[in-house]
Amino acid sequence: MFTKKPIIHNEVQILIDESELESYYAESYFLYKSHLKYLIRKLNTFKLGLAQGKREKYFQLLTDSYIRNIHNVNNIVSVLEPKVTLEAYENLQINTTDNTQTTLKDFIYLRRDWCFKSEPEQQLKTTIDSLKIELSKIEFETGNALFIGCGVGRIAFEFTDIYSKVYATDKSFSMIWHLQKLLNGKTIDFYSPHEKNVKTLQNVAPRYSAKIPKDKLNNILDKFEVFVSDVLDLPFKDNSLNSVFSIYFTDVIALKLWFNQINQKLKNKGLFVHFGPLDYFFSNEQEMYTAEEFKQFFENNGYKTLIDKTIETTHLEDSNSISYKVYRNWFFVAQKNISSNSTTFEIFDETILKLRTPVSYKREGILDDGEKELEATLNLPNGTFTGADAVIQILKLLDGKTPYIEVLSKLQSNGFDVNDTKGIHDLLLDLLKQNVLKIC
Ligand SMILES: C[S@@+](CC[C@H](N)C(=O)[O-])C[C@H]1O[C@@H](n2cnc3c(N)ncnc32)[C@H](O)[C@@H]1O
Repeated sequence: MFTKKPIIHNEVQILIDESELESYYAESYFLYKSHLKYLIRKLNTFKLGLAQGKREKYFQLLTDSYIRNIHNVNNIVSVLEPKVTLEAYENLQINTTDNTQTTLKDFIYLRRDWCFKSEPEQQLKTTIDSLKIELSKIEFETGNALFIGCGVGRIAFEFTDIYSKVYATDKSFSMIWHLQKLLNGKTIDFYSPHEKNVKTLQNVAPRYSAKIPKDKLNNILDKFEVFVSDVLDLPFKDNSLNSVFSIYFTDVIALKLWFNQINQKLKNKGLFVHFGPLDYFFSNEQEMYTAEEFKQFFENNGYKTLIDKTIETTHLEDSNSISYKVYRNWFFVAQKNISSNSTTFEIFDETILKLRTPVSYKREGILDDGEKELEATLNLPNGTFTGADAVIQILKLLDGKTPYIEVLSKLQSNGFDVNDTKGIHDLLLDLLKQNVLKIC
């Protein structure tokens, strides 16, 4: 089923191109190491508080809980450490203003998903029941479903009763590492400390154990497969998925960066399911679509809206804290609905294109009295294309690495008239439809 060779590291299945692996390990290592440093800094402030002799019990609770959590994060760091090369680490390009690089949400999601406490279970029940009830009113194929940015996977897991196969993927090594441990029957112990917003000292450092009950594990057997991958490079064949679920994920990365991926992998009549807020964890306002624009975008690309609702839930509620969030989750389901011989594509500034297979061209001219310039003829699947010099220039720049916007500026610096970007855009769309090009 997969288009990439899986690499297994510490029982975690990784489906990332081999050429990207070194930087993936280095980037992940950086993230966990940064989080570890953050926890140690906090621990030191609690130890200082403890040494001052006031509010001893409070500082003792926080100190003990941080020591345990530091131990957990240190485990992840040491699993990755042997895979990190100095060169990849030195070449890392980290956006330090982006806090997704330094915060670790695993334990927040482990507490919601696999500790079976009443408030998180209520959130999950409302979410999962609403999704299932609404989906039961729609006709769709239930062969397989992919959950992108699945976290520690509980929501994906609960859909194994609907789909024959559920794939759950996340780019985070530790999310999949934790989920795989649980699937292997292990228990994960951790604390969820609260320095503020608590009523009593008992609420300061509650301890949790995450575990998947045996009966639940027995029910899924080989129906549930989890792996690390990047939503920007999904390891599935085109037209191979019946449904793609984006639960609390849509607002993590701009839609235009991952739309082509899920659009290509979804079969015709396949479902795209979104559930969650549009909180947008990136800074480019251009991409912070309203729900209405988001829906329109799908409809413009050949999708039919089947569900457009709001479902209110608490979010990551913890009864030990005085405060909690409520989300008016947007629940949106769109069905890919394109005629059999037409596929829709979008080319954005960031889109990277490549020739699917090499194409041949000839340059010919007529030898006569007058001067005659050589003319290029390009052989394309649906016929030859004469006068193709400009097209060949463009195709030469589509190397599978350069984003479309840079292709345009390279063309411009080669003396090309790029005022007609619509012409270039339409040409590339046409070549995508002819299967001459592919989106990387
Ligand atoms: C807000 S969490 C939601 C987790 C899960 N869907 C849930 O509701 O429990 C977003 C998840 O997206 C993952 N993520 C971020 N960028 C990703 C990418 N490029 N590809 C795949 N997953 C990604 C994060 O690691 C994180 O686990």
